[in-house]
Amino acid sequence: MLTRWQLESMDELREWPREHLSVNERMKKKAWAFVPEPMKDKVFGYAVRKGLGRFRDTCRMFDYNHHLVPNPYLGELESRSPDLETAVKLTGLSIGYPAWNLLYYALMCSISTTDAVVVETGTNHGFSTIVMAQALKDAGSKEKVRTVDIDPEVVQRAKANVERAELSDYVEFSVGDSIAFLKEFADAHDHIDFAFLDGNHEVEHVENEFELLHAGIAACLGKVYFDNTMSGGVADALRYIQDTHGGNLVRFDNCSWSPPGNAIWQP
Ligand SMILES: C[S@@+](CC[C@H](N)C(=O)[O-])C[C@H]1O[C@@H](n2cnc3c(N)ncnc32)[C@H](O)[C@@H]1O
Repeated sequence: MLTRWQLESMDELREWPREHLSVNERMKKKAWAFVPEPMKDKVFGYAVRKGLGRFRDTCRMFDYNHHLVPNPYLGELESRSPDLETAVKLTGLSIGYPAWNLLYYALMCSISTTDAVVVETGTNHGFSTIVMAQALKDAGSKEKVRTVDIDPEVVQRAKANVERAELSDYVEFSVGDSIAFLKEFADAHDHIDFAFLDGNHEVEHVENEFELLHAGIAACLGKVYFDNTMSGGVADALRYIQDTHGGNLVRFDNCSWSPPGNAIWQP
């Protein structure tokens, strides 16, 4: 069964922000709503296999030493993932290797062992969460990754995966829209060490998430980590962030997928 986000992804195969959709695109979106669920699964698999639309560009790697990923459960799933289609079945819409390791070390090298405040939007099946939780554990921290997803079904899967990864003590899950979640989260914390934004990728949403986090990040020279940075909503949001807040942005273009690229912003 496809998640809501996957269905939305299919709707947005051409990666155009909603407000820029032509009449033609809007009609395609409406038509998609009438396609039976089992067919949607097949179309999704076909698009991934053939590299159509948003699946055209991928820098997610599969042929590497799977012991390199920071968690054994994740490594085991990766060893059974020869291609993107299988990987999506096993690890969802995750950033994949080598981005997992970039995220792991970026977080691990950013926090002290006490009082680390770490947040993620877009839990999906829990694999970036696992990588971040492993970084907290390996850094000797007792804190938790606070992660939110709007889709309750994926959060259930994520909980099961985090348990199999033996990291449940390092994660606190929430279900809901990331904006409402981050409002409360930002109010409750005087500093935020590390935020990974990987939920809704529309430009306005990413900008709003960033604005909510900005004061907490600025308070401790924290970091905001972005996925899907090469084009689309996140790329537009990064331009806005640099124009509005300046700061430093380090780009890692050769990782992740649909669209590729990760980036880290710091005040
Ligand atoms: C690309 S996936 C996240 C992948 C995950 N970070 C990983 O690397 O393993 C995006 C997720 O964001 C969630 N999402 C979409 N819009 C959201 C919103 N407004 N608030 C919270 N989560 C949202 C979707 O349900 C989906 O599971």
